[in-house]
Amino acid sequence: MFISFEGIDGSGKSTQARLLAEALRAEGREVVLTREPGGSDGAEAIRRLLVEGGTDRWSAETEILLFNAARRDHLERTIRPALQRGATVITDRFADSTRVYQGVTRGDLTETVEALHKLMIGIEPDRTFVIDIAPVEGLARGAARGGSEDRFESMGLGFQEKLRAGFAELAAAQPARVRIIDGSGAPEDVAARVRAAL
Ligand code: TMP
Repeated sequence: MFISFEGIDGSGKSTQARLLAEALRAEGREVVLTREPGGSDGAEAIRRLLVEGGTDRWSAETEILLFNAARRDHLERTIRPALQRGATVITDRFADSTRVYQGVTRGDLTETVEALHKLMIGIEPDRTFVIDIAPVEGLARGAARGGSEDRFESMGLGFQEKLRAGFAELAAAQPARVRIIDGSGAPEDVAARVRAAL
């Protein structure tokens, strides 16, 4: 299985990716838990260019190229080899993040995103869980976490609202693959919702 977790900043999806990985490992499966941007040495180096620095460091178009470069390396070095040996891959973000963060928030770049995805990546997860929470709550969690990886959070509440709507649209368009999971409440409760959906 190839599973991705998605959501706005501070949604709790990283915790959910980890909890699902732990649960499947406890059942005896080999699970590779990974993340984007990152998940391979080259992609982790590209990550720092993308998530640190000022909001206008890159245009949305340049971001699309950098995220695809990182994703291609992640795919070649981590995801494909794991799937080929029969492991379950759980990734904290994948191509849907580019569809939403770069595709619909700063003008409509959907066609560009889809064209590059087809050319350079070409696969989709078997199942995608969008952990859904209110943007004010997500930003508050991000602020509490601190750190320097806040480039997208710095784009503000309006940006996070657009992201949430973008993920909802995606789930409506691809109901067989993409499920919205209510992210409110204790992490264990959210994990139970994920497991029921899986
Ligand atoms: P993270 O905080 O979930 O680790 O993700 C890093 C940031 O990068 C987050 O704000 C979302 C953003 N991002 C995109 O804008 N496009 C993408 O394709 C990916 C994978 C992440």
